[in-house]
Amino acid sequence: MVLWVFGYGSLIWKAGFNYDERLPGFIKGYRRVFYQGSTDHRGTPDYPGRTVTLEPAPEEICYGVAYKVSQKEDIETAITYLEVREKQYDQKDYLDFYTESTNSTPALSSVLVYVASSDKKLNQNYLGPASLEEIAKQIVRAEGPSGPNRDYLFQLEKALIELGCKDAHVMDLAREVRCILSEEVKSSEDGDLCESS
Ligand code: SIN
Repeated sequence: MVLWVFGYGSLIWKAGFNYDERLPGFIKGYRRVFYQGSTDHRGTPDYPGRTVTLEPAPEEICYGVAYKVSQKEDIETAITYLEVREKQYDQKDYLDFYTESTNSTPALSSVLVYVASSDKKLNQNYLGPASLEEIAKQIVRAEGPSGPNRDYLFQLEKALIELGCKDAHVMDLAREVRCILSEEVKSSEDGDLCESS
């Protein structure tokens, strides 16, 4: 048996487990959204941060990477590790994974994906949609055991650019966060840079 895990958030730049192959590609029918509250990694119970989850979106695709784990001991270790790291993600899905936009046949099937559902009964940390400005302000302030929330956003932006993916939601948020940060040190005449597109 071989385990494939799809990462669309921090798993893109930090696997944290042994793997044999890292394959860039995408899943279909979802978009990446900063709708999940984080009280264990990028925020605290008093001031949650925001991390990404997947939202169903029939016409969209979400880029990331798939990791192949082949050795039995590595699979067990990876699952144990991910169950702790992704414990605020209440849902595990097994999805098709694609590497070619021109090919409708998946490169892989049954790839494990951790999703934070929008069901508040199952996922108490779910925050859901908010304006770009609200999300950015929250990300600027939040910090947790894994570091500042803004670093999560900037690392995700960088990792996606390295994959050749321009995710508008992530890039707009990163720009807004940079503007808020520069506003903190610059005069108010730069304020118009921060208007959302
Ligand atoms: C993922 O990376 O696939 C899940 C979300 C996260 O841990 O950032």
